[in-house]
Amino acid sequence: MCGIVAYVGNRRVAPLLIEGLKRLEYRGYDSAGLAVVNGDGIQVMRSVGRVSVLEQQLAEHGIDDGNGHFAGTLGIAHTRWATHGAPTEVNAHPHTGRTACGHTLAVVHNGIIENYAALRTYLQGQGHEFTSETDTEVLSKLIAQLYEGDLKAAVQAALREVSGAYAIAAICGNEPHTVICARKGSPLIIGIGDRSYIVASDASAIVAHTTQVITLDDYQVARLCAGPVDKKDPVGGPWAEEFQTTTIDNIPVSQQVRALEFDLQKIELGGYSHYMLKEIMEQPDALRNCLRGRLDPRENRVVLGGLDRFTRELVRAKRYVFTAQGTAFHAGLIGQYLIEDMAKIPARCEYASEFRYRNPIIEDDTVIVAVSQSGETADTLAALAEAKDRGALALGVVNVVGSSIARETDVGTYLHVGPEIGVASTKAFVGQVAVMTLMALFLGKRRYMSAQLVSDYLAELEQIPRHIARVLEQSDHIRTCVDRYVDRDNWLFLGRWYNYPVALEGALKLKEISYIHAEGMPAAEMKHGPIALIDEGMPVVFVATRGSQYDKVMSNIEEVRARGGRVIAVATEGDTDISRYADSVFEIPPVSDALAPLLTVIPLQLVAYHAAVLRGLDVDKPRNLAKSVTVE
Ligand code: G6P
Repeated sequence: MCGIVAYVGNRRVAPLLIEGLKRLEYRGYDSAGLAVVNGDGIQVMRSVGRVSVLEQQLAEHGIDDGNGHFAGTLGIAHTRWATHGAPTEVNAHPHTGRTACGHTLAVVHNGIIENYAALRTYLQGQGHEFTSETDTEVLSKLIAQLYEGDLKAAVQAALREVSGAYAIAAICGNEPHTVICARKGSPLIIGIGDRSYIVASDASAIVAHTTQVITLDDYQVARLCAGPVDKKDPVGGPWAEEFQTTTIDNIPVSQQVRALEFDLQKIELGGYSHYMLKEIMEQPDALRNCLRGRLDPRENRVVLGGLDRFTRELVRAKRYVFTAQGTAFHAGLIGQYLIEDMAKIPARCEYASEFRYRNPIIEDDTVIVAVSQSGETADTLAALAEAKDRGALALGVVNVVGSSIARETDVGTYLHVGPEIGVASTKAFVGQVAVMTLMALFLGKRRYMSAQLVSDYLAELEQIPRHIARVLEQSDHIRTCVDRYVDRDNWLFLGRWYNYPVALEGALKLKEISYIHAEGMPAAEMKHGPIALIDEGMPVVFVATRGSQYDKVMSNIEEVRARGGRVIAVATEGDTDISRYADSVFEIPPVSDALAPLLTVIPLQLVAYHAAVLRGLDVDKPRNLAKSVTVE
């Protein structure tokens, strides 16, 4: 949700900021902007739409014309997902402020300043004029108001006045070699490069420059300086760099530099037309990485080092509460079923946003499981904090290493499926479900599961990456089928038990990227209302694998056919019965009920992908969405 890049060093900053913004564009893409310290002043450019529009605009204004436009080596940039104010040029970041002594400063910001209205009134009283509707402009004017010759002190003072969430980067024309950045509730990483620092809201914008990073914690502020020692010899002379981190109350904090484990190749498109397709297609490998070293069929055990510290508490827990949003919520629902089914521990899954505000009862020996690809979702973080306050043991199922949820949990398991760039989550879902399957087996084995059953599941799990590859071979067939229904504006997705959350996920994927209205629900629920929607030709997708619910689902299929609906079935290979009733069939290899979601979701991801492409839509940047939602 919104992306920040900032740089101070010895390279021309504007192209570098644009490149960084492009890598972050999946976080928000309704407008973009940058500010560069150039000579004594700050040059700002902002535009509505994609980063490419900003790039084009910069080119038109002669960034490379040798006249020194945007020629500095210190700058900040932002790609926006609107919260306060429409996506217009005036609302785009950076926002500026003018200090009493006549210097200009510029700020980019992710998050929400909750008390912005009161601050705005105060600042207007002090003579500041506002041009935008944003909360960020309030922050830039507040920093300007408090500036007395030291940008870091002004940022600290301003942040002591605000409530809400923020990651910010600020620069001032008066301090031409300094970036100040700070965070509370929104991620921010500092890369330590050669003669330079680069700051970004996620690692993908940093990794091309350096692998040495610092992750700021909440309420921390960093001052990053890089510049020539001798102003008269800015190019060839000695160079000095310095970074300093403190709290917003100016208490020094020491920071650990860590190495980024991030492969740039993994975030490149690698020949695919979209990140979403790439991420769908790389799921066999992603899952192999996720399972690597965690299955030990010879010893008949699951190895989850991240749970070691509290194994006893996890095994003896009386209840598991899964909490998440979006796709991760659907994975959490499957987690709930797995824990009850395999470990025989009562479990439930709740939207984090609901859990947090409904005064939840947390009994003794409850484990809260926060499921999140990014590890930064504000709702999920807030639910986690609430449950921890009420005494729950916190477990994270997270993809992004070192993210806020990973750091806020007592124990956890990373997905290890690699960076996910496509806004519509795909491989992270499969990774989340796989990790929760491992957790359920880990617990089940220590509780009531027979050794034979554990062994059977482990053997099956090992085969899943290969099975996924087989399902993916049907991509062309799926596209041909989708082509027949792509003009229909209403779809239903139905499944039972383990395949019910998959139906929800299939509907969400279709909505997100093709803007087709789709609803997912338990197959049996259809007859309690939604059946009224079914008319001649309406596409109804059944997740109807051979398993304990098969016969019931077949009855539901008949109900749809009787009303003229078109049945698209995800079925088990070799199921000749279903092909008599369904208009189209996508096959998955035979698998146990509990492992079916790892396969049945794959054709539904492809249905959504092909529908969006056939409708001519921008798959990786669907309208109104953001990859990581860091506001509540
Ligand atoms: C956003 C994304 C979804 C994602 C959800 C939760 O809404 O668009 O794709 O599932 O956030 O994100 P998380 O990072 O917590 O898994």
